[in-house]
Amino acid sequence: MHVFITGTDTDVGKTVITGLLAAAYYHAGKRVCIYKPVQTGAQDLSLPDDPEQIRSWLGNPPEVGFFASYVFRPPVAPWVADVDGSINLDTIEADWRRLQGEYDVVLTEGAGGVHVPITREATTMDLIQRLNCPVVVVARPNLGTINHTLLTVEALQSRHIPIEGVFISNYAPEPANLAEQTLSSVFKQFLNVPVLGYIPPMPLAANYLKDGLPSAIADMSYFKVM
Ligand SMILES: Nc1ncnc2c1ncn2[C@@H]1O[C@H](COP(=O)(O)OP(=O)(O)OP(=O)(O)O)[C@@H](O)[C@H]1O
Ligand SMILES: [Mg+2]
Repeated sequence: MHVFITGTDTDVGKTVITGLLAAAYYHAGKRVCIYKPVQTGAQDLSLPDDPEQIRSWLGNPPEVGFFASYVFRPPVAPWVADVDGSINLDTIEADWRRLQGEYDVVLTEGAGGVHVPITREATTMDLIQRLNCPVVVVARPNLGTINHTLLTVEALQSRHIPIEGVFISNYAPEPANLAEQTLSSVFKQFLNVPVLGYIPPMPLAANYLKDGLPSAIADMSYFKVM
């Protein structure tokens, strides 16, 4: 099973959602690997921050894999960080295929959003298309997210990339503002893919890391690619 976690932007909760999915599969007894093709903004070049963060949320179980093909220090788009032009999509695809041989579930977290350049020629969406991997879109809850979410879904659909659905991360259970209160009714009307979950802020969401996501989402059959 494999899924690519992309988002409407950087800093929207992709790592949080990847962590929750990893927890769901880990608690279901699956061998899980978190893969970040290109990690930028790394504190330490030997450790891909996002997969490492997820592993520590899960309590560092040795059986959970984490891997990045390329790691860079500057907190910018992969192509911008890669001043030597070392990123090779063949390498990324080979690593991704190898991990699928080694694990039951490979969760791939992209950098930023779908139009972020990875190389001179290729964006994240080109990579997703090349891997022919279904995606989950992570969106933020606050004002502006309707437009970003619909644009992201439209872009993916223009390439016929299968979308499992959208997670809204950091959604307060009882939001104080009108934009967030009305978000689900707007998505019901305008979003043509399922909303997989409105994920509450940590530490509430941290319960999912301990116990796994609610069963409807954690149900393996949910992901058609299984
Ligand atoms: N459900 C949530 N509860 C609390 N904080 C959240 C939640 N979702 C996202 N955040 C916060 O928003 C910030 C960005 O989250 P995260 O690192 O998951 O984003 P990202 O999309 O993976 O970013 P990047 O593009 O850098 O990989 C973090 O500080 C994170 O803790
Ligand atoms: Mg991240």
